[in-house]
Amino acid sequence: MEIIIKETRKQASEIAANIVADLVKRKKPAVLGFATGATPLALYQELIRRHGQGALSFKDTVTFNLDEYVALDPSHPSSYHRFMEDNLFQHVDVPQAAIHLPDGRAENIPAACEAYEKAIKDAGGIDLQILGIGGDGHLAFNEPGSSLSSRTRIKTLTKETRTANSRYFGDIDQVPKHVITMGLGTIMEAKACLVLAFGAGKAEAVRDMIEGPVSSSCPASILQFHAHAIALMDQEAAARLRRLDYYLEVYHGKPAWQRWE
Ligand code: F6R
Repeated sequence: MEIIIKETRKQASEIAANIVADLVKRKKPAVLGFATGATPLALYQELIRRHGQGALSFKDTVTFNLDEYVALDPSHPSSYHRFMEDNLFQHVDVPQAAIHLPDGRAENIPAACEAYEKAIKDAGGIDLQILGIGGDGHLAFNEPGSSLSSRTRIKTLTKETRTANSRYFGDIDQVPKHVITMGLGTIMEAKACLVLAFGAGKAEAVRDMIEGPVSSSCPASILQFHAHAIALMDQEAAARLRRLDYYLEVYHGKPAWQRWE
């Protein structure tokens, strides 16, 4: 795994935007995997800024989001459909027909999950999957204990995740218990993965992801098997890494073209 540690979330998010922009300019159509939550917000703001300046167009992109709550209407203020619309899609030029999120309201959830997997395959697979990590090491909504080769399916959220996400609902009782999420096997098929982590609350999970054993107890640790995974974080999220000095030395020793700056 390539480890990139920047002082601040803003600096790290600019690097993430450089990685996305490089792909979007280089490959048409570029198939992007998006995440929700607080982590990618600064990246989305930077992509919107570049789009506003005329430096970046998403008209030749196809997008797939990682997850969505079960039984929540897409227009619900806390749905991931709304999150993406509010925080990215309405500000850039991704064609509406090219946007995909799991259908949390499907009557036949297994069939909807299979259809989602097929849509990803039909698009040629995801070129770059943006990821955030949960404080318990979850990736998308693959909570600890998830099969390391799981596919898109329904999952039950842990209390920890529902508590963390209650900030979007006001009250934990309003947070749905079930979600549809891409599986770890689905995520691992993305050609490249970019996992972002910010703040001290992620430091333990980041250490387990990068330096711990590969284990379903830390679902994100499966990325150790990915040939093109980048972990991009701020200093606080990196604070518990045992080989922190080494990762910094490796990064600063790279030629400029390898540093995405
Ligand atoms: C959501 C997702 C989750 C979040 C994780 C971190 O699409 O994939 O894995 O990335 O729960 O959430 P934040 O970013 O809010 O700390």
